[in-house]
Amino acid sequence: MTDLSRFSLEGKVAVVTGGSRGIGRAAAIGLAKAGADVVVTSRKLPDLENVAEEVRTTGRKATPIAAHIGKMDNILMLVEKVMDEFGRIDILVNNAGCSPAMGSIFDNEERLWDTIINLNLKGLYFMSQAVAKIMKEQGKGSIINVASMDGYKPEPFVGIYSISKAGVIMATKSMALELAPYNIRANAVAPGPISTKMLDSHWFHLPEEQAKAEKAELAKNVPLKRVGDPDEIAGAIIYLASEASSFTTGETILVDGGCTIASPEFTIPE
Ligand SMILES: NC(=O)c1ccc[n+]([C@@H]2O[C@H](COP(=O)([O-])OP(=O)(O)OC[C@H]3O[C@@H](n4cnc5c(N)ncnc54)[C@H](OP(=O)(O)O)[C@@H]3O)[C@@H](O)[C@H]2O)c1
Repeated sequence: MTDLSRFSLEGKVAVVTGGSRGIGRAAAIGLAKAGADVVVTSRKLPDLENVAEEVRTTGRKATPIAAHIGKMDNILMLVEKVMDEFGRIDILVNNAGCSPAMGSIFDNEERLWDTIINLNLKGLYFMSQAVAKIMKEQGKGSIINVASMDGYKPEPFVGIYSISKAGVIMATKSMALELAPYNIRANAVAPGPISTKMLDSHWFHLPEEQAKAEKAELAKNVPLKRVGDPDEIAGAIIYLASEASSFTTGETILVDGGCTIASPEFTIPE
């Protein structure tokens, strides 16, 4: 008989990067509802303060800390502040990510490569390094990386982003292998199209009505006939954070409405 208390995060401390909106916000609130105290972090403190207020309505503690995850000194400052306040970190959700521009291999500039790889891959790796040192001392921990279905199947004109997310999937396996002896698990969630500011930025250059039409067109190609909601990613994150997934490590869970299994010819019957 399954013991559902294994899904509880009671007494745990979680850090969620990119926690100010979208998937990170949903993850922070979800983890708190499951029982964890939560630190939300991103670059903009006012947005984080709003999310922290929402998290507190669950009855859990919430602390907003501003940090740029592409900067090593910010990562170390963040982890030090969390330790000063909570004295432990049980769950790390490496969710902060960016996809600031679309462009082909012929046009992409070095600066774009550096911005994306610096946050999506380097920041995720060194954030994990800093937190894994603490988890090793604690004898336990769970790291959850937010990858993307694009890490399996590249999207045209989002090449650097796709490359970064393929790197996240491999970083997850690499961390899982090296951290397993210390009872630290590392897993990832790979979302498909999820309704957030990042997804909407694909059409930011279009008039509102046209942007809506493009989003609806995208949804038509998703086997489940819609884009996802950030809460639908939070569920997988809660599972990977909890004891319910205690024998799972190095795994990436696709949460993509079936996008990756659909063939290019796939059309939804009317
Ligand atoms: N939405 C999708 O369709 C989708 C699909 C697959 C994967 N994902 C992945 O899911 C994750 C969350 O994306 P989202 O859709 O929720 O995007 P979003 O709404 O744009 O949120 C991105 C978050 O990252 C933070 N952030 C951006 N740059 C940062 C930096 N340099 N340092 C620290 N924090 C930073 C942002 O806050 P600040 O601006 O305050 O820094 C924000 O909290 C990303 O890793 C993304 O690649 C999203």
